[in-house]
Amino acid sequence: MFNVLKKSFEVNGLMELSRKILSIKPSATLAVTAKAKALKADGKDVVAFAAGEPDFDTPENIKQAAIKAINDGFTKYTTSSGIIELRQAVCDKLKRENNVQYDPSQVVISNGAKHALANVFMTILNDGDEVIIPAPFWLSYSTMVMVAGGKPVIVYTKAENNFMLTKSDLEGAKTDRTRAVIITTPNNPTGMIASLDDLKVIADFAVKNDILVISDEIYEHLIYNPDKKHICIASLGKDIYDRTIVINGVSKSYSMTGWRIGYAACPPEIAKCISSLQSHTASNPNSIAQMAALEALNGPQDSVEYMRQQFKKRCDYIYEREESIPLISALKPEGAFYLYVNIEKTIGKKYNGEEIKDGASFATILLENKLTAVVPCADFGTPNYIRLSYAISIDDIKKGMDRIEEFIKELK
Ligand SMILES: Cc1ncc(COP(=O)(O)O)c(C=O)c1O
Repeated sequence: MFNVLKKSFEVNGLMELSRKILSIKPSATLAVTAKAKALKADGKDVVAFAAGEPDFDTPENIKQAAIKAINDGFTKYTTSSGIIELRQAVCDKLKRENNVQYDPSQVVISNGAKHALANVFMTILNDGDEVIIPAPFWLSYSTMVMVAGGKPVIVYTKAENNFMLTKSDLEGAKTDRTRAVIITTPNNPTGMIASLDDLKVIADFAVKNDILVISDEIYEHLIYNPDKKHICIASLGKDIYDRTIVINGVSKSYSMTGWRIGYAACPPEIAKCISSLQSHTASNPNSIAQMAALEALNGPQDSVEYMRQQFKKRCDYIYEREESIPLISALKPEGAFYLYVNIEKTIGKKYNGEEIKDGASFATILLENKLTAVVPCADFGTPNYIRLSYAISIDDIKKGMDRIEEFIKELK
């Protein structure tokens, strides 16, 4: 049976699989993480600045809500777009915190913000439609766009513009196939937060050209710059509201990465299509996790503030340390939990005869010699940068920064 099947799928003696999926590149991030894990398993004292998730436990009230859901037998299929109570809680949150009015019919709950994004691209793109992605970008965007049949159009932002898109960046990237632009604020990996003026540039462009804005706000509660606040682009007026798809979730704000609850809030026609797609591909997000997310959004919010304060201390410390180390530079992160470091000045230098050629070789040589894992940013579109996640304890940050300092001072 298998042989018959196999033959009909063979091309040139090889099993023919989806060309789109086969073109997905293995991630350089995962390669470093795998190496760090292997060293740890060998008993080595590795400091890993690689985590993309808060290191705190999920707050107790949220865990208890999930336990109650299980004990109450809330363990069956739910409405495919998520239970009405949770969609209403999302609407209440968007009104309370972001000053935008949504109806539950405009909200779809999915298995994490990542799934919400994948649903959005599948829903809004036809083959060859273009999506403007500002680089550096969270690496899954371009893959998701491509898998949905779209074409990622990468636009390189500049440090002097706080890595924000400018009007000329947008105008230069626009074609008659442009369907959407993605913004991520606070940003992974840069840690920058879009100002009102930055958002106005994007909103004007989107409205003028009738383009959708996909606004990924997953780090919205993690803000450390007292002069910056999170602004949801959809709150800037009716025209942009009608063209915005807000993406958010509970993963980062409530330390619930494993629970897999995220959402999209958008025009009702789009929400209806996403829900229909999701009904065929995932049925619904996990019923128990939905109850936990409901408690996260409606329950006490003090754990969010506690985690923010801890991240702020770490942010101040890691930035101060980075600033005192020669040959590397960074902007002070305003939010999220990443320090985005330019290592260009180390290129061409050698550690024990091994040459640094880019962020990837910097990361490999650092890990092999100083047992410190950082994420090379080639997959984010910027090969001469590395990303340090400070979602680890302050003691580990100190140990890791000591090692990076030593490493750089020992370069020849
Ligand atoms: C910018 C950004 N968006 C979305 C996500 C995914 O969030 P979730 O865990 O809810 O799928 C991440 C996770 O790293 C992220 O960095």
